[in-house]
Amino acid sequence: MAPRKLAAGNWKMNGTLASLAEIDQLLADHPAPACDVLICPPAVLVHAMAQRADGSKLMVGGQDCHAKTSGAHTGDIAAVELKDVGASHVILGHSERRADHGESDADVEAKAQAAHAAGLVAVICVGETEAQRDAGQTLDLIASQLAGSVPAGANAQNTVIAYEPVWAIGTGRTPTNEQIAEVHALMRDKLSARFADGADFSLLYGGSVKPSNAAEIFAIAHVDGALVGGASLKAADFGGIISALAA
Ligand code: PGA
Repeated sequence: MAPRKLAAGNWKMNGTLASLAEIDQLLADHPAPACDVLICPPAVLVHAMAQRADGSKLMVGGQDCHAKTSGAHTGDIAAVELKDVGASHVILGHSERRADHGESDADVEAKAQAAHAAGLVAVICVGETEAQRDAGQTLDLIASQLAGSVPAGANAQNTVIAYEPVWAIGTGRTPTNEQIAEVHALMRDKLSARFADGADFSLLYGGSVKPSNAAEIFAIAHVDGALVGGASLKAADFGGIISALAA
C-alpha cells in the first residue's frame, strides 16, 4: 500500500463561524478531490465544521488534545471529546505548542496514545529551529523527536508525520528541495526500521506551503502531502494546494 496523499489545513487560532463559508466554497470547488483533505479549525468550530462537511470527503480535526480522557483539566480537551463532535484527526506536537506550552516529546507521545485510543489519527509534528539547523543538528533532532513522540502503537492508519522546520512556519521561507528530501528520507528510514508498515506512513511537509510552490514540494521523494497554515484559511489558496497534490 502506498502512503495516502493528504492536504491538511491548520487554521491555528483563526476563524469564527462566519469562516465556515470557506468550507462551503472548498466543497463546491473540490467535490471529489483525488487526495485526502483535512482541516483543523479552532476547537470551538470542530463540531460545526464537521456537520457542514457531513457527506463530503472533507475531514475535520483538532489542533491538540489532552493525554487523559476526562478530569479536572480546565481549558483542555480530551481526544474522545474531539472524536465525539466529529473529528477524525488531531494535530499533536506542533512547534507552537512545543514552544508556547512547553510540550515535550513524552507529552506528545502520551497525547498520541490518547488520540489512538479514541480512534483519532494523530498528525505528529517534528521540526528544527533555525539555530538547530545552523548548528548541524537537524537530522539528529528529527530522529530523536520521532523516537520520542511517536508511540509504539503507531501504524500507517492511525498516524501521519509532519516535518515542519520552525523557521519556515509563517515566514514565507522554505527549505531547499534537497533539505526537505534529506529529512523526509531520514523519516522514512526511521519509521521503516521501527514499524512493519513504516513505508506506508503519510509524511507531510509544512512551512510556508502555498499554491505557487506546492507542486514542486509534492514532487520531492517521500513527500505525501502538506500541513498548511496561512494558505489553508482561504478556499482559493487551499484549493490550489489540493489541486497540486491531486495532480
Ligand atoms: P504556514 O504554517 O503554512 O502558515 O507556514 C504551517 C504550520 O504551522 O502548520
